[in-house]
Amino acid sequence: MHYIIHTFGCQMNVADAEVLAGHLETMGYSETTTEELADVILLITCCVREHAESKVYGKIGELYDLKQKRPEIILGVGGCMPQQADVASKLQQRFPYLDLVFGTHNLASFPDLLDQVRNSGSTVVEVLHGVGGITENMPRVRRDNLKAWVTIMYGCTNFCTYCIVPYVRGKEQSREMSAILTEICDLAERGYREVTLLGQNVNSYGTDLVAHPDFADLLQNIEQISGIERVRFMTSHPKDFSRKLIAVLASSKKICEHLHLPVQSGSNRILQAMNRGYSREHYIALVDEIRRSIPNTVLTTDIIVGFPGETAEDFEDTLNLVREIRFDAAFTFAYSPRSGTVAATWAEQLSKEEKKERLKRLNDSVNEIALERNKPLVDQIVEVLVEGPSKTDETMLTGRTRGNKLVHFPSDPSVIGKILAVKITRAQTWSLFALPVGMPR
Ligand code: SAH
Ligand code: SF4
Ligand code: F3S
Repeated sequence: MHYIIHTFGCQMNVADAEVLAGHLETMGYSETTTEELADVILLITCCVREHAESKVYGKIGELYDLKQKRPEIILGVGGCMPQQADVASKLQQRFPYLDLVFGTHNLASFPDLLDQVRNSGSTVVEVLHGVGGITENMPRVRRDNLKAWVTIMYGCTNFCTYCIVPYVRGKEQSREMSAILTEICDLAERGYREVTLLGQNVNSYGTDLVAHPDFADLLQNIEQISGIERVRFMTSHPKDFSRKLIAVLASSKKICEHLHLPVQSGSNRILQAMNRGYSREHYIALVDEIRRSIPNTVLTTDIIVGFPGETAEDFEDTLNLVREIRFDAAFTFAYSPRSGTVAATWAEQLSKEEKKERLKRLNDSVNEIALERNKPLVDQIVEVLVEGPSKTDETMLTGRTRGNKLVHFPSDPSVIGKILAVKITRAQTWSLFALPVGMPR
């Protein structure tokens, strides 16, 4: 028996898909990449923007033919989409050939749900809404044997006015520190060298736990775990980024010099309407302090253009902020109204054309600066963790610097999984080229 999981959206879904793969393998399924061979196909969905949802709808439609040919195949849709009001029933109506619809709080009961489908032959729909605590120790098949994703907290309670995540992922819940540390020790024993700690707002880790540990405490404990050489985390929220955390980052040997710090807008008026909880001035001061304490920090961000009511002046504020901060990279998005969120109900929505035009202007700026930030790296020697063959040129290998920059270089496959010193020879907007200069370790 074989399974395929198609994962959309963010690392939360990637982590959940690893648990679902763990359940399936425990139940005797093995993975395939050929849809014709699959007995179970799961789509783990995202609804953060309309575009993310259209991709999922397209994929469900595409699977219709397969289901006609092989009615015994089990098609399941999970993840964030079915957690939205009415979407689970809409999915069932529009695609009656789906066998299973489940949500983000159903991971622990997935084997039971799959058994129900296998035994009943009718569509099973279960989407839980109240969050019933965290289930530890679920089986898990990790997609990588070098870098591991470790969820440190689930959900989000920030309710930025544009964002669907708090509605589909539930309230913020931190995992116990001991459970996280045990997981990372186990990963280190199994040869993992890098961990990325995941949460929608890692900076508020622990506020809901009885002992109130904070994110800086957690990082200090992870620092002690031998074998783990690189620690990353996502996502940081500027409103909760503490001085204590900056001090821990500055003194750490393992925490990589890369921060993803979404700013969303450079206009105070818009930041307030977004309910982000910080001002433009706070963000700039925070970045100044981070750059003073941790030189060479690679800084990336998320920016939304065309939020309801965004004037030409507000947008200029965003462009100016981008030019002032000079991000290494930015993920930029046109605002997409999400049903159920506050901002979607506001009257002052911008047209698609306006949003597109602003997005293009923003991207031009972001890309120009990204290239300027990469150019001074030429002739520098940096360490990369070698990941595998390059996706664009099979004669090359790729790895990432501590700053998370992608580097292509010629070498033989024996260095995959090792840390290697390379000298940068050429810089592009999104990647660097290099030559190996040292012995791999
Ligand atoms: N928890 C993270 C990111 C969550 S979603 C944070 O707080 O930063 C990832 C990114 O998608 C967000 O940072 C935001 O830039 C973007 N995004 C979220 N909702 C959106 C919407 N309705 N329209 C456009 N972009 C959106
Ligand atoms: Fe969404 Fe804001 Fe939570 Fe991030 S912090 S997930 S943008 S509500
Ligand atoms: Fe998408 Fe859900 Fe992540 S909506 S961005 S997959 S938390």
